[in-house]
Amino acid sequence: MATMIQIEELVKVYKGGIRAVDGVSFDVEEQEIFGFLGPNGAGKSTTIKCVIGLLRPTSGRILIRGTDVRQSPKLVKPMMGYASQETAVDDRLTGWQNLFLQGHFFHLARKEIDERGEEVLRLCGLWERRNDSAGTYSGGMLKRLDIAAALIHQPSVLFLDEPTLGLDVQTRKVIWQYIEKLRSEQKMTIFLTTHYMEEADALCDRLAIIDRGKIMANGKPGALKADIGGDIVTARFVAPEEKVSRLVQALSALPETVSVTPMGDGLQRIVARQRGDRLIPEVFALAAKNEVGVESIRLHRPSLDDVYLHFTGREMRDEQGSREEIGKARMTQRRLRR
Ligand SMILES: Nc1ncnc2c1ncn2[C@@H]1O[C@H](COP(=O)(O)OP(=O)(O)OP(=O)(O)O)[C@@H](O)[C@H]1O
Ligand SMILES: [Mg+2]
Repeated sequence: MATMIQIEELVKVYKGGIRAVDGVSFDVEEQEIFGFLGPNGAGKSTTIKCVIGLLRPTSGRILIRGTDVRQSPKLVKPMMGYASQETAVDDRLTGWQNLFLQGHFFHLARKEIDERGEEVLRLCGLWERRNDSAGTYSGGMLKRLDIAAALIHQPSVLFLDEPTLGLDVQTRKVIWQYIEKLRSEQKMTIFLTTHYMEEADALCDRLAIIDRGKIMANGKPGALKADIGGDIVTARFVAPEEKVSRLVQALSALPETVSVTPMGDGLQRIVARQRGDRLIPEVFALAAKNEVGVESIRLHRPSLDDVYLHFTGREMRDEQGSREEIGKARMTQRRLRR
């Protein structure tokens, strides 16, 4: 497979000095679904906006199929489709009118818009509802209309900035199916950003974890999980602090243990070198020896949450509650503006 997107040492410093993207490099192959995973303010949207030419990078190089975005914008822009983090649909227009407008922006001829418009509306499951005002669409339909609009000029690579933010679980899964379909039926390359671990896991062939403008990890979800070690045992200990800390030291020294990390609230996260079920009896034995009670113990396979924690030292889950709210607030704001 040829390389579709090549990013080399991308830096973006906003006016006022915020270093939103701080030396980011990665490649995306053709027909790959590549995910950019990271918390609020990590620099995901800024990276996308630089790649599609909406923002001027401070330094670094971006190539689309080997062509420099800054040197030859006219050549590369038609190859790229973009659905922004905020829905760009006009509520007062019908689905069809929204598409027509978008086709117009790309200087497509009437006939082309008619043909391509039908194709993308069918592709996104909106053909039957094309003559309804977008104001009557559900959140998931609006997002699909946004994606359809980004496809009108037949781009080779599609950029989706948080395609499922604020949508319920079922609707998100429907969007995933459409994204998969775009890759398999339209042979598209898809670059998406998300803060949902399961989304990156289920959908992406490869992903990069970005935090505070820097790439912390990059690879296939399975390989990233394998990188951090074996199973994970989470235990809650009850005892005075010095006893727990002696126990933690003893646990860390075990040959079966990769690391022991305190998670607050008496919880300890123990990464096993391989099988966690073998580690559990040892945890009980050492706890008894150190006079520490085990209130609960749980064993699980590493998830992308664990990968995130491993590479950033923080949990992403903390921020999810507030992010859902942000997503909803954005949707409401957009509706109010009209
Ligand atoms: N136009 C701007 N001017 C100044 N600073 C900005 C601007 N846009 C974004 N930033 C800052 O750059 C950093 C990265 O923002 P960005 O929107 O790229 O993050 P993100 O990963 O997309 O976050 P989110 O998950 O909330 O969408 C943040 O600190 C943000 O406040
Ligand atoms: Mg963003």
